[in-house]
Amino acid sequence: MTARSLNLLVLGRGKTGSIVAEVARERGHRVHCIEAGDNPDGAWLTAERLRDFDAVLDFTEPGAVLTNIEACLDAKKAMVVGTTGWYGEMDRVRSAVKKAGTGFVFGANFSYGVNLFFEIAQAAAPALAHGFSGRITERHHIHKKDAPSGTAVALQRVLEQATGVRLNITSEREGDVTGTHTLELASAGDRIVLTHEAKSRRTFAEGAVLAAEWIIGKTGFYDFKDIIAQL
Ligand SMILES: NC(=O)c1ccc[n+]([C@@H]2O[C@H](COP(=O)([O-])OP(=O)(O)OC[C@H]3O[C@@H](n4cnc5c(N)ncnc54)[C@H](OP(=O)(O)O)[C@@H]3O)[C@@H](O)[C@H]2O)c1
Repeated sequence: MTARSLNLLVLGRGKTGSIVAEVARERGHRVHCIEAGDNPDGAWLTAERLRDFDAVLDFTEPGAVLTNIEACLDAKKAMVVGTTGWYGEMDRVRSAVKKAGTGFVFGANFSYGVNLFFEIAQAAAPALAHGFSGRITERHHIHKKDAPSGTAVALQRVLEQATGVRLNITSEREGDVTGTHTLELASAGDRIVLTHEAKSRRTFAEGAVLAAEWIIGKTGFYDFKDIIAQL
């Protein structure tokens, strides 16, 4: 239970959104969930309906998230966006958040472990300047709508920022795999393999709810990995 009980709106009652709602309730928050059928083209998200919510958490799909963001920013609502597959529009969303004067947290992956994995990968990155080649592989369940995963793209960005080298990403879709990411660095003489394996979606849900608690009362556009130390 946190100090203040929040009124949260969760968009998407799928595999992740439903656990986000469960974790938020466990932490003492009031939660309302909206499904795709209630919200075609963001139609549910009027300023009047959104008025009493403290924050909106989006775990929908790449084809819906930008419309949802636009509607929530129009209503000046704080947002936590876990949905991936929209990062090509990042600059436009950042400007819209600034214009709306609201708080916004996005993250390719809300798991503490994945963000630690990014830091470990960054520490290993100098290998790319010492004769090692690298590649990223991501494996997810067959229903995942975007490829490569937002997490793989974020890992690619971490390594590119550290070394200037942009690694290839291979995407594999199999069964009900929650999410596995591997960075492989290989030289002629050895091989380093770093793997993060998500065992349950609860790890994402906990991070998302902590981000919602954190963003209340703040303004600005934040990447989850940059605020995780404050949660
Ligand atoms: N950041 C993270 O840590 C993290 C972790 C896990 C997943 N994700 C991302 O979160 C997103 C959802 O993942 P998931 O595995 O939960 O997918 P999912 O099981 O397919 O759930 C998505 C849900 O969103 C619903 N939806 C679609 N459009 C909507 C709208 N306009 N309003 C309300 N609901 C809508 C879908 O309903 P219908 O099925 O009826 O269309 C579905 O129930 C994906 O982009 C995924 O990559 C992020």
